Amino acid sequence: MSFFDTIDKAKVPQHVAVIMDGNGRWAAQHGTDRIFGHQQGVESVRNAIKAATRAGIKYLTIYAFSTENWNRPRFEVEALMSLLVNVVKAEADELDKNNVCLKIIGDRDSLPKKVIKETDKMVARLSKNNGLTVIMALSYSARWEIINAVKSIAADVKKGKISTEDISHELFDSYLSTANIPDPELMIRTSGERRLSNFLLWQLAYAELYFTPKLWPDFTEEDFFEAICNFQQRERRFGMTSEQLKKRM
Ligand code: FPP
Repeated sequence: MSFFDTIDKAKVPQHVAVIMDGNGRWAAQHGTDRIFGHQQGVESVRNAIKAATRAGIKYLTIYAFSTENWNRPRFEVEALMSLLVNVVKAEADELDKNNVCLKIIGDRDSLPKKVIKETDKMVARLSKNNGLTVIMALSYSARWEIINAVKSIAADVKKGKISTEDISHELFDSYLSTANIPDPELMIRTSGERRLSNFLLWQLAYAELYFTPKLWPDFTEEDFFEAICNFQQRERRFGMTSEQLKKRM
């Protein structure tokens, strides 16, 4: 039986975030160079999108490139940027056909012009779709995002648009790049690493964390469904006791 069949379809998380880790190790294990690992990783991105769509998830955020990834060897950074441009061009029809909407979060100004041009085109083309929303974190880091939000809030206080008393959890949410998107309930990280690596630090406050030793290029649709099943077995207490939760049900 597939894990898909055991998912309670009425209780799937609305938003799943993924740290796609292990492309380099996968390449080393297969005696190829790191770029080939990233290319293989694209197939797993397709699988995750298919699985999320089938499971009825509304938002899927994928960590495609962190601000720290700019420190990788130039050759790898350039190869990743070209891969992105090629993938965006090659996948547009398929994503559109499947009613997928795309959003990009991250430090846009640091991206090469070609990446901005192609991703903008794709975002515009898919903007009317109302199926799964894929949020691609590109040149993204949570600390960068939080600092930006703080600067914008400070500027709006200075301009008199808001007062310091208005600053609340909800207001802060609205200054983040994920404004109007519900927080992820589940965060999946592949490759056995157990860290958040500067990913959605504010938004993951109450997310369930799921770590699998599988390397990203080996991560299948079935692995995605297994993570959802695992999530559904957890008790999400949000600071309350089990007894309080039972009374509310
Ligand atoms: C982490 O593996 C992966 C990345 C930094 C890039 C992720 C990119 C892809 C999956 C391909 C392109 C994606 C899209 C959305 C088009 P790593 O290189 O850190 O692996 P390692 O830790 O084993 O070295």
